[in-house]
Formats: sequence, structure tokens, C-alpha cells
Amino acid sequence: MKIFLIGFMGCGKSTLGKKLATKLGYDFIDLDHQLEKELGDSVGNYFATHGEDAFRRLEKKTLQEYNYPANIVIATGGGAPCYFDNMEWMNANGKTVYIEMSPVALAKRLEGGKEKRPLIKNLNEVELIAFIEAKLAEREVFYKQAAINANGISLTADALRAILLSES
Ligand code: S3P
Repeated sequence: MKIFLIGFMGCGKSTLGKKLATKLGYDFIDLDHQLEKELGDSVGNYFATHGEDAFRRLEKKTLQEYNYPANIVIATGGGAPCYFDNMEWMNANGKTVYIEMSPVALAKRLEGGKEKRPLIKNLNEVELIAFIEAKLAEREVFYKQAAINANGISLTADALRAILLSES
């Protein structure tokens, strides 16, 4: 089974995804890292030189054309579900899990990790929370189409595994 973890930047997709994959005996891939491998550049640099539209096109291509093994946990970029038919495609090709978290919790978690994230790297504390609130409101329309909604606060890989097993 392909398990797609989706949600806003900072919600824990990669950290939880890696642990979940280990527990399930599945492979793991972080799609942003895969993209960076293909680009030979960081997402931040790519955004700066080619712009967001070009990034979104490549993100779609990587998401939809990667040669996935049968059993894998996939950490997607925070914007991936919200462009093109990506959300529909993930729902048709695997199990989608939205890791839900409030703007305040996300802001706290993102303070230290802004540098590598082009959309937020120049924002101060007040701007960051306003940005998250506005962006999350737009994006939740897509995130909420996930097969599973998981509350990200204190979510562990074990709890996520239990949720997935109870679903299947
Ligand atoms: C983005 C999230 C990032 C990365 C890019 C854009 C977004 O991934 O894809 O900086 O639009 O929310 P993470 O969610 O892994 O930070």
C-alpha cells in the first residue's frame, strides 16, 4: 500500500513518516528530497531562480511519475495536494492521511525551520502566524479530502499505525 502523508509545512510528515515506515516494514520517501536529488539543487534555490509555478510542475511530475515500490510511506510537500489533480491522484493511488495541526502549533514548530522554506523564510513571528492562518484556510479544502484525518498534536507513529490498521 502507498500511504501519502499530507499537511502543512511543519506538521511532522517526514519525521512521523520515517518512523511509521520502520514500524510497518515499508520503504519511505520524502518527495521534496527526491525532487532535490533530481534537480541537483535545493527547493529554496529552485524557487528563487525558476519561481513557484515551475516548482509546482516538477512537484506534480515527481509525485505522479515516481516509480514507487508496492509498500511505501510518502511524505509530500505541504503544497503538493493543492495543485493540479494531485489530491485526486493520491486518493486514487493510495491511502491519504492528513496530519492536522493548528496555526499556533505550526508556527511554533516552524520558527526554527524557516530558512529552507522559501514561502516563509522572510516572515517575522507575527507575519508567520498570519500567513499560516490564511494559507491553511485555503489549503484545508484539499487537505480535508484525505481518507484519514489525524490530529497531529502528540501523534506518534504507533498511534498512526493503529489508525491505519483499524481502517483496513
Ligand atoms: C511547501 C512546502 C515545503 C516545500 C516547499 C513548498 C508549501 O515542504 O515543498 O517549500 O507550499 O507548503 P514541507 O511541507 O515538507 O516543508
